[in-house]
Amino acid sequence: MKIAFVGKGGSGKTTVSSLVARFCASKGFPVMAIDADINQHMARTLGMSIDAVAVPSMGIEIDRIKEYLRGTNPRISDNASMIKTTPPGTGSRLIKVTEKNPIYDYFLKEISPEGSGKTISFMAVGPFDEGDLGVKCYHSKTGSVELLLNHLIDKEEEYVVADMTAGADSFASGLFTRFDITFVIVEPTVKSVAVYNQYKEYARDHSVLIKAIGNKAENEEDEAFLEDAVGSDLVTCLSMSSFIKKTDRGVHVPLKEIETENHNALSKIVSEINSCIKDWPKFYMQAAEFHIKNAKSWANEAVGKDLTKQIDPDFVFSR
Ligand SMILES: Nc1ncnc2c1ncn2[C@@H]1O[C@H](COP(=O)(O)OP(=O)(O)OP(=O)(O)O)[C@@H](O)[C@H]1O
Ligand SMILES: [Mg+2]
Repeated sequence: MKIAFVGKGGSGKTTVSSLVARFCASKGFPVMAIDADINQHMARTLGMSIDAVAVPSMGIEIDRIKEYLRGTNPRISDNASMIKTTPPGTGSRLIKVTEKNPIYDYFLKEISPEGSGKTISFMAVGPFDEGDLGVKCYHSKTGSVELLLNHLIDKEEEYVVADMTAGADSFASGLFTRFDITFVIVEPTVKSVAVYNQYKEYARDHSVLIKAIGNKAENEEDEAFLEDAVGSDLVTCLSMSSFIKKTDRGVHVPLKEIETENHNALSKIVSEINSCIKDWPKFYMQAAEFHIKNAKSWANEAVGKDLTKQIDPDFVFSR
């Protein structure tokens, strides 16, 4: 399953996505965690030491990803004509969550937050660099994640967890349609609920499954506020947590020590993920739709080719 965590700045995207990744990994399931944010905090939140945080940037070295994924697809003549939305076709290389390939060999770091040998495979888009300023936007960096997800054949009990940029930024590209479920993290504030409503609005036209997770609820009043403001999309609420606060102070605590109510909340989130139904035809259709949109609006002109021809009518996703 591909899972995105979005929400207002500071709402708890990195915290909750990391906890969900740890929860699933602690149960022995394969987990891939992707830090798709400009502010790179996920590795540390997952318990990686500060020295080890410098993982290779998928955004900066996107060409390595393109080179491998395009394989021998005759519709993609070179890396330059492979844009973030280019869908796989005959000859492309599809990847699995657990396998050995040159992309994982280079970008992926194994993290073992519970120290039990049960690991999380971690990758990061990487920071904004100086070359981006005024020239590109961060979308060209998160394009590396979009490409990867477009070629990733994940199964039901495999969890690909992405920590996304704040605000509605993720909706500016096709990336937001690449997930089986998107969780909006909502604090018990009017501003945070407003961001949730904004997401809901964007998602409506694109048949994207959106659910909300309340966070930092200090009392029943906070929970009631969220239930009232969000309604039935609210999966669960995490409370203000001293376990999480310890992480902020640089103390790494095993997940088994998290408060019972927050353990139960994580369990509800994972049940919600498990209830999603994979829809590969929809996944491909949306990829093609966004590719055509991008090709027509900027990429055909930028690359000097008709990139809509990259869509392979004979291609079907198969595991
Ligand atoms: N349930 C919680 N209890 C206590 N503190 C929390 C909780 N959730 C998040 N926090 C704290 O709130 C702060 C913001 O959380 P986090 O970094 O996860 O948010 P974010 O949405 O990823 O932020 P950004 O938009 O900067 O990426 C952190 O200091 C985090 O430890
Ligand atoms: Mg964050």
